[in-house]
Amino acid sequence: MKTYICEICGDAYVGDEKPKNCPFCGAREAFIKEGKDAKPIVNNVKTQGFAFLTDVSRKNLEETLVLETRANAIYLCMADKAETYEIKAMYKRLAKVELEHATIATKFLGIQMSEIKPETCNEDDVENFKRTVELEENATRLYSQFAREATEREIRILFTALTQAEEDHIELIKNYLQ
Ligand SMILES: [Fe+2]
Ligand SMILES: [Fe+2]
Repeated sequence: MKTYICEICGDAYVGDEKPKNCPFCGAREAFIKEGKDAKPIVNNVKTQGFAFLTDVSRKNLEETLVLETRANAIYLCMADKAETYEIKAMYKRLAKVELEHATIATKFLGIQMSEIKPETCNEDDVENFKRTVELEENATRLYSQFAREATEREIRILFTALTQAEEDHIELIKNYLQ
């Protein structure tokens, strides 16, 4: 067993091999390092202070926080309505991943997470899959734009990793739509 650390969310994964995606934030394996080599990007904020953020990145992180907390609530609703245990468990996992993304945004902004309001969703799995793809496509479009807009290295890395994580969610859901 070894300790691997995700440089995006900063969480540790303990196992024999490096996972293909971070189990917590979904970042791809390029962002996961062996414990001693890992330099989580959020730790750089602590040393540089929150003032290092540009106004544009601050606004983009605030938008990310809104989007991710909303996705968390929507996926919890979809988990609740799901017909099978597999779909229920999958949506619960997506909800946790989106909550992790929201948590990362609060760390960069230096703020506390506020209470998440419940959201509504469809009773039908297929309708929920289609809405999930739309939500994730919107997120990937925004995050790739936020990555381009970022002049700070850490923020560019963060939005690149989030773009990929949401792209992977689209692929996951498209398998259910076939
Ligand atoms: Fe992670
Ligand atoms: Fe997300």
